[in-house]
Amino acid sequence: MKMTGNTILITGGTSGIGLGLALRLHEAGNKVIVAGRRKELLDRITSEHPGIEALVLDVADPASIARAAESAATSHPQLNLLVNNAGIMLPENLLDPASLPVAEDHVTVNLLGTIRMTYAFLPLLEDKSDAVVMNVTSALAFVPLPITPTYNATKAALHSFSEMNTKSPPHGSSPPGSTWCDGCPEPTSSRGVHITRRERRGGIRGSPSVRDRLAVPGPGC
Ligand SMILES: NC(=O)c1ccc[n+]([C@@H]2O[C@H](COP(=O)([O-])OP(=O)(O)OC[C@H]3O[C@@H](n4cnc5c(N)ncnc54)[C@H](OP(=O)(O)O)[C@@H]3O)[C@@H](O)[C@H]2O)c1
Repeated sequence: MKMTGNTILITGGTSGIGLGLALRLHEAGNKVIVAGRRKELLDRITSEHPGIEALVLDVADPASIARAAESAATSHPQLNLLVNNAGIMLPENLLDPASLPVAEDHVTVNLLGTIRMTYAFLPLLEDKSDAVVMNVTSALAFVPLPITPTYNATKAALHSFSEMNTKSPPHGSSPPGSTWCDGCPEPTSSRGVHITRRERRGGIRGSPSVRDRLAVPGPGC
Protein backbone atom coordinates (compact mmCIF):
# COMPACT_ATOMS: atom_id res chain seq x y z
CA MET A 1 0.00 0.00 0.00
CA LYS A 2 1.10 3.57 -0.46
CA MET A 3 2.30 5.24 2.75
CA THR A 4 1.28 8.83 2.08
CA GLY A 5 -1.69 10.66 0.59
CA ASN A 6 -4.26 8.24 2.00
CA THR A 7 -7.40 9.04 3.92
CA ILE A 8 -7.41 6.54 6.76
CA LEU A 9 -9.98 5.54 9.37
CA ILE A 10 -8.46 3.76 12.36
CA THR A 11 -10.79 2.07 14.82
CA GLY A 12 -9.48 1.83 18.36
CA GLY A 13 -7.57 5.02 17.63
CA THR A 14 -7.90 6.47 21.13
CA SER A 15 -5.00 4.51 22.65
CA GLY A 16 -2.29 1.91 22.21
CA ILE A 17 -1.45 0.58 18.77
CA GLY A 18 -4.29 2.47 17.08
CA LEU A 19 -3.16 5.83 18.43
CA GLY A 20 0.49 5.07 17.66
CA LEU A 21 -0.42 4.15 14.12
CA ALA A 22 -2.59 7.28 13.79
CA LEU A 23 0.23 9.62 14.87
CA ARG A 24 2.83 7.99 12.61
CA LEU A 25 0.53 7.95 9.60
CA HIS A 26 -0.48 11.57 10.24
CA GLU A 27 3.21 12.58 10.36
CA ALA A 28 3.77 10.67 7.13
CA GLY A 29 1.33 12.89 5.23
CA ASN A 30 -1.96 11.02 5.43
CA LYS A 31 -5.39 12.30 6.43
CA VAL A 32 -6.17 10.33 9.59
CA ILE A 33 -9.49 9.87 11.33
CA VAL A 34 -9.35 8.16 14.72
CA ALA A 35 -12.42 6.34 16.03
CA GLY A 36 -13.37 5.09 19.46
CA ARG A 37 -15.94 5.35 22.22
CA ARG A 38 -14.09 7.72 24.56
CA LYS A 39 -15.10 11.20 23.42
CA GLU A 40 -12.75 12.94 25.89
CA LEU A 41 -9.77 11.11 24.40
CA LEU A 42 -10.92 11.86 20.85
CA ASP A 43 -11.21 15.55 21.75
CA ARG A 44 -7.75 15.55 23.30
CA ILE A 45 -6.17 13.85 20.28
CA THR A 46 -7.72 16.28 17.80
CA SER A 47 -6.71 19.32 19.85
CA GLU A 48 -3.13 18.09 20.44
CA HIS A 49 -2.66 16.99 16.83
CA PRO A 50 -4.25 19.51 14.46
CA GLY A 51 -5.27 17.83 11.23
CA ILE A 52 -6.29 14.54 12.83
CA GLU A 53 -10.04 14.14 12.92
CA ALA A 54 -12.22 11.99 15.15
CA LEU A 55 -15.34 9.89 14.96
CA VAL A 56 -17.27 8.50 17.93
CA LEU A 57 -17.73 4.81 17.26
CA ASP A 58 -18.71 1.72 19.21
CA VAL A 59 -17.96 -1.30 17.03
CA ALA A 60 -20.17 -3.43 19.29
CA ASP A 61 -23.18 -1.39 18.20
CA PRO A 62 -24.44 -1.85 14.61
CA ALA A 63 -26.29 1.49 14.76
CA SER A 64 -23.09 3.27 15.75
CA ILE A 65 -21.26 1.63 12.85
CA ALA A 66 -24.00 2.68 10.43
CA ARG A 67 -23.83 6.28 11.70
CA ALA A 68 -20.03 6.30 11.36
CA ALA A 69 -20.20 5.00 7.79
CA GLU A 70 -22.78 7.61 6.88
CA SER A 71 -20.73 10.38 8.48
CA ALA A 72 -17.52 9.24 6.78
CA ALA A 73 -19.25 9.08 3.39
CA THR A 74 -20.34 12.70 3.82
CA SER A 75 -17.22 14.16 5.46
CA HIS A 76 -14.52 11.99 3.90
CA PRO A 77 -15.72 10.58 0.57
CA GLN A 78 -12.05 10.11 -0.39
CA LEU A 79 -11.56 7.52 2.40
CA ASN A 80 -9.46 4.69 0.96
CA LEU A 81 -8.01 2.87 3.96
CA LEU A 82 -9.83 1.19 6.84
CA VAL A 83 -7.81 -0.14 9.75
CA ASN A 84 -9.93 -2.48 11.88
CA ASN A 85 -7.83 -2.24 15.02
CA ALA A 86 -10.39 -1.92 17.86
CA GLY A 87 -10.20 -4.90 20.14
CA ILE A 88 -10.40 -6.18 23.68
CA MET A 89 -8.38 -8.85 25.46
CA LEU A 90 -9.50 -10.06 28.86
CA PRO A 91 -8.75 -13.27 30.77
CA GLU A 92 -11.38 -15.98 31.04
CA ASN A 93 -11.95 -18.97 33.26
CA LEU A 94 -13.89 -21.64 31.42
CA LEU A 95 -15.00 -23.12 34.75
CA ASP A 96 -16.56 -19.84 35.86
CA PRO A 97 -19.97 -19.03 34.33
CA ALA A 98 -19.22 -15.35 34.90
CA SER A 99 -16.67 -15.60 32.09
CA LEU A 100 -19.29 -16.34 29.45
CA PRO A 101 -20.24 -12.66 28.94
CA VAL A 102 -16.52 -11.89 28.65
CA ALA A 103 -16.22 -14.50 25.91
CA GLU A 104 -19.30 -13.12 24.14
CA ASP A 105 -17.93 -9.58 24.30
CA HIS A 106 -14.78 -10.70 22.50
CA VAL A 107 -16.82 -12.13 19.65
CA THR A 108 -18.97 -9.00 19.47
CA VAL A 109 -16.10 -6.49 19.49
CA ASN A 110 -13.15 -8.25 17.91
CA LEU A 111 -14.87 -10.41 15.33
CA LEU A 112 -18.38 -9.15 14.64
CA GLY A 113 -17.21 -5.55 15.02
CA THR A 114 -14.61 -6.02 12.30
CA ILE A 115 -16.98 -7.88 10.01
CA ARG A 116 -19.71 -5.26 10.46
CA MET A 117 -17.23 -2.43 9.87
CA THR A 118 -16.06 -4.12 6.71
CA TYR A 119 -19.56 -4.50 5.33
CA ALA A 120 -20.47 -0.94 6.31
CA PHE A 121 -17.39 0.72 4.77
CA LEU A 122 -16.81 -1.31 1.63
CA PRO A 123 -19.36 0.70 -0.36
CA LEU A 124 -17.17 3.75 0.31
CA LEU A 125 -13.95 1.97 -0.61
CA GLU A 126 -14.93 -0.22 -3.51
CA ASP A 127 -14.45 2.32 -6.29
CA LYS A 128 -10.97 3.32 -5.10
CA SER A 129 -8.05 1.77 -6.94
CA ASP A 130 -5.83 2.17 -3.88
CA ALA A 131 -8.25 0.93 -1.22
CA VAL A 132 -6.99 -1.15 1.68
CA VAL A 133 -8.75 -2.96 4.49
CA MET A 134 -6.34 -3.84 7.27
CA ASN A 135 -7.50 -6.14 10.04
CA VAL A 136 -5.34 -6.23 13.17
CA THR A 137 -5.05 -9.81 14.36
CA SER A 138 -2.50 -11.35 16.73
CA ALA A 139 0.19 -13.96 17.00
CA LEU A 140 -2.17 -15.55 19.55
CA ALA A 141 -4.27 -16.66 16.58
CA PHE A 142 -1.51 -19.19 15.95
CA VAL A 143 0.01 -19.73 19.40
CA PRO A 144 -3.00 -19.51 21.73
CA LEU A 145 -2.65 -18.13 25.23
CA PRO A 146 -4.52 -20.48 27.63
CA ILE A 147 -6.12 -17.72 29.72
CA THR A 148 -7.64 -15.92 26.70
CA PRO A 149 -9.32 -18.70 24.70
CA THR A 150 -12.02 -16.60 23.05
CA TYR A 151 -9.62 -13.76 22.28
CA ASN A 152 -7.32 -16.25 20.53
CA ALA A 153 -10.28 -17.67 18.62
CA THR A 154 -11.50 -14.27 17.44
CA LYS A 155 -8.05 -13.41 16.11
CA ALA A 156 -7.79 -16.76 14.32
CA ALA A 157 -11.21 -16.11 12.80
CA LEU A 158 -10.15 -12.63 11.69
CA HIS A 159 -7.06 -14.08 10.09
CA SER A 160 -9.26 -16.51 8.18
CA PHE A 161 -11.70 -13.72 7.23
CA SER A 162 -8.84 -11.64 5.85
CA GLU A 163 -7.31 -14.64 4.10
CA MET A 164 -10.58 -15.49 2.40
CA ASN A 165 -10.82 -12.02 0.96
CA THR A 166 -7.24 -12.21 -0.20
CA LYS A 167 -7.54 -15.46 -2.05
CA SER A 168 -11.08 -15.72 -3.34
CA PRO A 169 -11.56 -15.72 -7.09
CA PRO A 170 -12.25 -12.31 -8.68
CA HIS A 171 -15.86 -13.13 -9.47
CA GLY A 172 -16.50 -15.14 -6.34
CA SER A 173 -18.76 -14.23 -3.49
CA SER A 174 -16.18 -12.34 -1.46
CA PRO A 175 -16.82 -8.64 -0.82
CA PRO A 176 -14.92 -6.12 -2.91
CA GLY A 177 -11.84 -4.18 -1.86
CA SER A 178 -8.51 -3.71 -3.51
CA THR A 179 -6.06 -4.95 -0.92
CA TRP A 180 -6.61 -6.99 2.21
CA CYS A 181 -4.08 -7.08 5.00
CA ASP A 182 -3.83 -9.14 8.11
CA GLY A 183 -1.80 -6.78 10.27
CA CYS A 184 -0.36 -8.83 13.09
CA PRO A 185 1.38 -6.58 15.64
CA GLU A 186 4.44 -7.48 17.60
CA PRO A 187 3.36 -8.39 21.13
CA THR A 188 3.79 -5.46 23.50
CA SER A 189 2.75 -4.51 26.97
CA SER A 190 3.19 -0.86 26.11
CA ARG A 191 0.25 1.37 25.31
CA GLY A 192 2.54 3.76 23.46
CA VAL A 193 3.54 4.15 19.84
CA HIS A 194 3.64 0.83 18.07
CA ILE A 195 3.42 0.18 14.35
CA THR A 196 1.93 -3.06 13.14
CA ARG A 197 4.10 -5.30 11.02
CA ARG A 198 2.92 -7.45 8.17
CA GLU A 199 2.98 -10.94 9.47
CA ARG A 200 3.24 -12.82 6.26
CA ARG A 201 4.19 -11.92 2.73
CA GLY A 202 2.56 -14.55 0.59
CA GLY A 203 -1.16 -13.98 0.78
CA ILE A 204 -1.73 -10.34 -0.01
CA ARG A 205 -3.02 -9.23 -3.36
CA GLY A 206 -3.89 -5.85 -4.80
CA SER A 207 -5.22 -4.63 -8.10
CA PRO A 208 -6.11 -1.52 -10.03
CA SER A 209 -9.83 -2.15 -9.86
CA VAL A 210 -12.36 -4.03 -7.84
CA ARG A 211 -13.24 -6.31 -10.72
CA ASP A 212 -9.63 -7.28 -11.24
CA ARG A 213 -8.57 -6.98 -7.66
CA LEU A 214 -7.43 -10.52 -7.12
CA ALA A 215 -5.89 -11.11 -10.49
CA VAL A 216 -2.78 -8.97 -10.04
CA PRO A 217 -0.30 -9.34 -7.21
CA GLY A 218 -0.03 -6.04 -5.35
CA PRO A 219 2.76 -4.46 -3.33
CA GLY A 220 1.38 -5.83 -0.10
CA CYS A 221 1.24 -3.74 3.03
N1 LIG B 1 -0.84 -4.89 22.60
C1 LIG B 1 -0.43 -6.05 22.06
O1 LIG B 1 0.58 -6.66 22.47
C2 LIG B 1 -1.20 -6.66 20.91
C3 LIG B 1 -0.70 -7.79 20.28
C4 LIG B 1 -1.39 -8.34 19.21
C5 LIG B 1 -2.58 -7.77 18.78
N2 LIG B 1 -3.06 -6.68 19.41
C6 LIG B 1 -4.31 -6.12 18.90
O2 LIG B 1 -4.08 -4.77 18.57
C7 LIG B 1 -5.29 -4.03 18.73
C8 LIG B 1 -5.04 -2.83 19.64
O3 LIG B 1 -4.57 -3.31 20.88
P1 LIG B 1 -3.93 -2.35 21.99
O4 LIG B 1 -3.00 -3.17 22.79
O5 LIG B 1 -3.46 -1.10 21.36
O6 LIG B 1 -5.22 -2.08 22.91
P2 LIG B 1 -5.69 -0.83 23.76
O7 LIG B 1 -4.61 0.11 24.05
O8 LIG B 1 -6.50 -1.39 24.89
O9 LIG B 1 -6.67 -0.10 22.74
C9 LIG B 1 -7.85 -0.70 22.34
C10 LIG B 1 -8.60 0.27 21.49
O10 LIG B 1 -9.79 -0.36 21.05
C11 LIG B 1 -10.88 0.53 21.27
N3 LIG B 1 -12.10 -0.21 21.54
C12 LIG B 1 -12.32 -1.19 22.45
N4 LIG B 1 -13.58 -1.58 22.40
C13 LIG B 1 -14.19 -0.82 21.44
C14 LIG B 1 -15.51 -0.75 20.94
N5 LIG B 1 -16.51 -1.50 21.41
N6 LIG B 1 -15.76 0.13 19.95
C15 LIG B 1 -14.78 0.94 19.47
N7 LIG B 1 -13.52 0.92 19.91
C16 LIG B 1 -13.24 0.05 20.89
C17 LIG B 1 -10.45 1.41 22.44
O11 LIG B 1 -11.06 2.69 22.33
P3 LIG B 1 -12.27 3.19 23.25
O12 LIG B 1 -12.12 2.58 24.60
O13 LIG B 1 -12.12 4.69 23.25
O14 LIG B 1 -13.51 2.75 22.54
C18 LIG B 1 -8.97 1.54 22.22
O15 LIG B 1 -8.68 2.65 21.39
C19 LIG B 1 -6.33 -5.00 19.30
O16 LIG B 1 -7.11 -5.50 18.23
C20 LIG B 1 -5.47 -6.09 19.88
O17 LIG B 1 -6.15 -7.32 19.93
C21 LIG B 1 -2.40 -6.11 20.46
